Amino acid sequence: MTDYNILAQQIKALAEDEPYFVPVLSNASALIYDNMENLNWAGFYLMDEGSLVLGPFQGKVACIRIPLGRGVCGTAAGEDKTMVVPNVHKFAGHIACDGASNSEIVIPIHRNGEVIGVLDIDSPIFDRFADEDQEGLEAFVRALEEVTDFSEVTP
Ligand code: SME
Repeated sequence: MTDYNILAQQIKALAEDEPYFVPVLSNASALIYDNMENLNWAGFYLMDEGSLVLGPFQGKVACIRIPLGRGVCGTAAGEDKTMVVPNVHKFAGHIACDGASNSEIVIPIHRNGEVIGVLDIDSPIFDRFADEDQEGLEAFVRALEEVTDFSEVTP
């Protein structure tokens, strides 16, 4: 089981010297991918003039741009709510980047109360993400929001 308190502490420590979002999110995706079991993709999409664009990630090549409201990521960003999808094949509009994905969690990221991106995590296991994963990952995203300089991201 992943220790989400340690993950949040680690990303805070990593961002201390360099809060620029590219290195912080790169290391954040590596931390998640390395410390959670049964994942096939973990990374970020960032807002860019009204749609989501691919950011730092671990996993297979992924789709580059997602309109707001499309797929699990576009829904999470558009509605500003965490999406937990136990079976992506039953989610209308799911965007299949890696055919191995069977479940997914997407958590919005904010700056000054505005959604500036999402954390997206995929698993080859159905129903991979339990309530404690959602709570731990939401706390991880709150830590990221505290320590990361997102001023160059333009929603
Ligand atoms: N499945 C996502 C697209 C991104 S990939 O999973 C990396 C979606 O439906 O928004």
